Amino acid sequence: MNTLLVHESHWGNTRAIGEAIAQGIASVGDGAQVTVVDVGEAPSPLPGDVALLVIGGPTHAFSMSRAATRRDAHSQGAEPGHDLVGIREWLDGLPAPAASPAVATFDTRVTQVRRLPGSAARAARRMAEHHHIGEVVATESFYVEDSAGPLEEGELDRARAWGRHLASDARIV
Ligand SMILES: Cc1cc2nc3c(=O)[nH]c(=O)nc-3n(C[C@H](O)[C@H](O)[C@H](O)COP(=O)(O)O)c2cc1C
Repeated sequence: MNTLLVHESHWGNTRAIGEAIAQGIASVGDGAQVTVVDVGEAPSPLPGDVALLVIGGPTHAFSMSRAATRRDAHSQGAEPGHDLVGIREWLDGLPAPAASPAVATFDTRVTQVRRLPGSAARAARRMAEHHHIGEVVATESFYVEDSAGPLEEGELDRARAWGRHLASDARIV
């Protein structure tokens, strides 16, 4: 099973979660290939051999980022980049693949506002379904202490476990 994990990250928190998820997936697969890419380098259309597509980004203004929220992140000290393309724009331009992969979406969010509605992972799930990218099998949030991070304690372990769960899920393999 080949996995493609696409992440968008401004301070590195979502990237770290994505890498931990990839480790979890790789620890289960028997020789399965897991490719982790920044959304700026993500392929479109998808390669035909992707069986599991994992998409992750930060929650910005209760949803996936937009150009304006990415500029805000940059002005708050985040890494430059992602000016034009975040997961919203990549997903929006992604053609429906001929061979539908299983799809999983995740986001990072601030713990303090976890009770508020709005999650990039849920928004990405809706867009993937709307664009017929594949069957969405899982959606999860991971938590940071503040906009710039750090990740809450234990979140990298939880991400590795989530990756293991994705890879061993009977619906995927
Ligand atoms: C412009 C902006 C809007 C944000 N809006 C939200 C929000 O609505 N809910 C939330 O939980 N976190 C919000 N955050 C915090 C981000 O989720 C946080 O910066 C992100 O998880 C960090 O991940 P990254 O290092 O991968 O970018 C916002 C951050 C920025 C910069």
